[in-house]
Amino acid sequence: MQIKLGTKPYAAMQTDALVSYLFEETDPVQGRIAEIDQAANGLLRKLSKSGELTGKTLEMTLIHAPAGLKAARLLLVGAGKREQFNGATLRKIAGAALRYLKGRSVKNFVFLVRENEATEESAQAIAEGALAADFETDKYKTDKKNDKSIDSVSLAGYSDAARAAGEKGLARGCVIADAQNFTRDLVNEPSNKLTPRILAERAEAMAREAGLAVEILDEKRIAELKMGALLSVAQGSVEPPRVMVVTYTPANPKPGAPVIGLVGKAVTFDTGGISIKPAEGMEKMKYDMAGGATMLGVMRALAALKPSVKVICVVPSTENMPGGKAQKPGDIQTAMSGKTIEVLNTDAEGRLILADGVHYAKQLGATHLVDAATLTGAIVVALANVNVGVFGSDQPFTDKLLASSKAVGEKMWHMPMDDEYREFIKGSFADIQNIGSGKGGGAITGAMFIKEFTGDSPWIHLDIAGTAWNDEAKPWLAKGPTGVALRTLVHLVMSY
Ligand code: BES
Ligand code: ZN
Ligand code: ZN
Repeated sequence: MQIKLGTKPYAAMQTDALVSYLFEETDPVQGRIAEIDQAANGLLRKLSKSGELTGKTLEMTLIHAPAGLKAARLLLVGAGKREQFNGATLRKIAGAALRYLKGRSVKNFVFLVRENEATEESAQAIAEGALAADFETDKYKTDKKNDKSIDSVSLAGYSDAARAAGEKGLARGCVIADAQNFTRDLVNEPSNKLTPRILAERAEAMAREAGLAVEILDEKRIAELKMGALLSVAQGSVEPPRVMVVTYTPANPKPGAPVIGLVGKAVTFDTGGISIKPAEGMEKMKYDMAGGATMLGVMRALAALKPSVKVICVVPSTENMPGGKAQKPGDIQTAMSGKTIEVLNTDAEGRLILADGVHYAKQLGATHLVDAATLTGAIVVALANVNVGVFGSDQPFTDKLLASSKAVGEKMWHMPMDDEYREFIKGSFADIQNIGSGKGGGAITGAMFIKEFTGDSPWIHLDIAGTAWNDEAKPWLAKGPTGVALRTLVHLVMSY
């Protein structure tokens, strides 16, 4: 799908559909919508008076052969209350419009921004919304004869003076959405099509194409580095583990600037190991590599956006299987850092592989760490599929990330990390244990465990277990992988 800035006035654009949006207010037919209404002999005002056109969030009104327009259809999307309107709403409107029209076999459409909204940010949001909405999870369906696709989207409403800003926003939006879809494609892969080895190949290919430095650690190298926590998870599987290291170095690095370490959990399938999970719903555990896929997607975007700080991405990857050589509850493992871990539950494996992941990222020179992981069912209990759980060891760094999440419209919620929780993971027979001792707060103990391996470095943990996968389709997004947190992390790195 192509997305570009249109050159003609919107009324003269020949297209399958002209899309715009209106607000839920006493008179939703205002400004540019009133302009369209006049050309259409008052049809929109009539619909508004009859209560059919209200501007309620994502209300869809489709008009065929609208008078006064060259477009074959006019689609008006409800934008909700004007005071609450922002980039996140615009992104959803563009996405919902795309999916609505795609379902009706439309091939191309023009998206008209409202008066005073022809900005760089609008163009970026529309590109992000449309491209993410266009992503489908039907890769493995063989019957494609009823497949529908949108060929092109044009933006309208940009004056000559606003063109440069529009083009810039579109370009950035495309980079970010393409990266998000790259992540979603990886997350969508079932575990037989995406083992740690295959994920590493995909990461390597991405990095080479994007011009990023990449190193893949195989099981031998992982053993030499004494990544005992990662190896303990991997030993239950016949598939060997991998660690992907992808590095972005700016052309003119500033002396004293932070080096950001992005660490992502990539368990390509989580059976739970010997502490095996129930059969029901286990198929979903193919998405247990979403944190790693997110970090790889972030790197792909950064390669194009060229931030001014160095970024080191470390993705430890393994299966969590109950094979004959699998670790057993009570086993004591030594992490790369030298800390000993009592593995009381083999299903709490994400924190084990991240322990070595964050330690290695530090060793490679990262001064600030962010990890992303589908870490706990407890975060789903706490925040459902609405908010990402945010845990941080450093207030300014955490505030910076939360500001980024706000700016890009990804909902995140700051969770507590009081010292009292440290007690929960105190080990009886080793330094620490990998689950809390039965006092609740499961998402926090998971975070506390990872913190043990971050030393004094400012560190943030994102628990995306509830948000990385949509169990149901949204009007603006297909069912399945969401690519959550990618936009926030790209914004965070770009803000340095
Ligand atoms: N991958 C899971 C987390 C998860 C659970 C994601 C449910 C999505 C939905 C993780 O490895 C896990 O199994 N965590 C355990 C930890 C527990 C044993 C302390 C959990 O949350 O049940
Ligand atoms: Zn698990
Ligand atoms: Zn897991």
